[in-house]
Amino acid sequence: MTQRTLVLIKPDAVRRGLVGNVLSRFEAKGLTIVAMEHRHIDAAQAEAHYAEHVERDFYPPLRTFVTSGPLVALVLEGDEAIEVVRLVNGATDGRKAAPGTIRGDLSLSNRENLVHGSDSPESAEREIALWFPSLD
Ligand code: RTP
Ligand code: MG
Repeated sequence: MTQRTLVLIKPDAVRRGLVGNVLSRFEAKGLTIVAMEHRHIDAAQAEAHYAEHVERDFYPPLRTFVTSGPLVALVLEGDEAIEVVRLVNGATDGRKAAPGTIRGDLSLSNRENLVHGSDSPESAEREIALWFPSLD
């Protein structure tokens, strides 16, 4: 089933010059870029995106991190794209993520883990509307 999912290439990846590396993995997998924007978000956008985490103790440092510099937001499309992106991204904690995944190969952090991918069809719909409100 063809799906769309919202991906963030987070500020750590932009700072480290890994945007091309990350993007090439999604493209090589066969996913299609249907929207993409380089953006420096504010606290309000961070809170809207991570609404489910706002009350968590890790949210203040997460907000500081995701607003710390520009990121690249994109919408990817393809067969089972939501789960496929989560698999390509790897486990949340880069120290535990499997080699071969983006986080497993390139991150040693539970916070600065390079990428975000929507975790369900409902999240994907909400996040795509939040980041790309004019996308068809
Ligand atoms: P994401 O939403 O960014 O795709 O990551 P995820 O689903 O794998 O992880 P999630 O539980 O949704 O957490 C969102 C982001 O918050 C940071 N985080 N820090 N204990 C901590 O310090 C902690 N836990 C999570 C990470 O940046 C994580 O990706
Ligand atoms: Mg998540």
